[in-house]
Amino acid sequence: MSRVGLKRTRGPSFLDRVAREWSSNDPQKVGRTFCRLLLGELVLLWATLGGTSVQAEVDFDRDVRPILAEKCYACHGPDEAVRQAELRLDLRSSAISPLPSGEVAIVPGNTDESELIRRIFSTHSGDRMPPETSQKPLTDRERQVLKEWIDSGAGYRLHWAFRPIDSPPVPAATFPEWQRNEVDAFVASSLMMFRC
Ligand code: HEC
Repeated sequence: MSRVGLKRTRGPSFLDRVAREWSSNDPQKVGRTFCRLLLGELVLLWATLGGTSVQAEVDFDRDVRPILAEKCYACHGPDEAVRQAELRLDLRSSAISPLPSGEVAIVPGNTDESELIRRIFSTHSGDRMPPETSQKPLTDRERQVLKEWIDSGAGYRLHWAFRPIDSPPVPAATFPEWQRNEVDAFVASSLMMFRC
C-alpha cells in the first residue's frame, strides 16, 4: 500500500470544530455538533480497525488448521495407526483424492461435491462428522469457515515452522527525518496504518 493511499485529507480537526461551535455560545448547537463529530470519528475508527477484517479471506493457518487439528486430526491426521476411512485431512493431496468409499472429501471450489461438507452439515447423527463419540462438535462458525475455505479453493499452507524464511519487502520511508533502519520503516508504516 502506498503512503499516499494511507493519508486522508481532512478539514478542521474534531476539537477545532467543537471549539468553533463553542464560541457561538449556543449549547444546543455545540451538543449536536459534538455528537455528530463523535459518531463520525467512531465510524472511521470502526472502518480502520475492524472493517477490513470482516471481509478478510479465510486463511488456512489462522482459521482452518486449528479447526482440523482440534476436531478432525485425531481420526484423519498424520497418525496412520488411528486413521479412519483412509482419510487424511492434514495433506491436501490426500484430502482431494478419491477415497475407497468412492467419495472425495474435498473438491476445491465445489462444496456441493465435497463429502466433507455433506458430512459436517449432515443432520443424521450416524453420518455427521465429527462423530458424537469424539465429543468435539463443530460450531456453526467453524462449519462456515470450512465451507468458505473449500469454496475459495481449499489452499493449504505448509506450517510456518517448515516454511523457508523469507524477507518481507521493506516499506517505503514514511518519516525519513527519524527513520534510521529497516525496523524503523516497519514501525513507521504500522503507525501510519493506525493513523497515530
Ligand atoms: C473420533 C474419530 C473421528 C473424528 C474426530 C472425525 N472423524 Fe470423520 N470419520 C470417522 C470414521 C470412523 C469414518 C468412517 C465411517 C463413516 O463413513 O462414517 C469417518 C469418515 C469421514 C468422512 C467420509 C470418508 C469416506 O470414506 O467417504 C469424511 C469426509 C470425514 N470423516 C470428515 C471428518 C471431518 C471433516 C472431521 C472433523 C471436523 C472428522 N471427520 C472427524 C471418524 C472420525
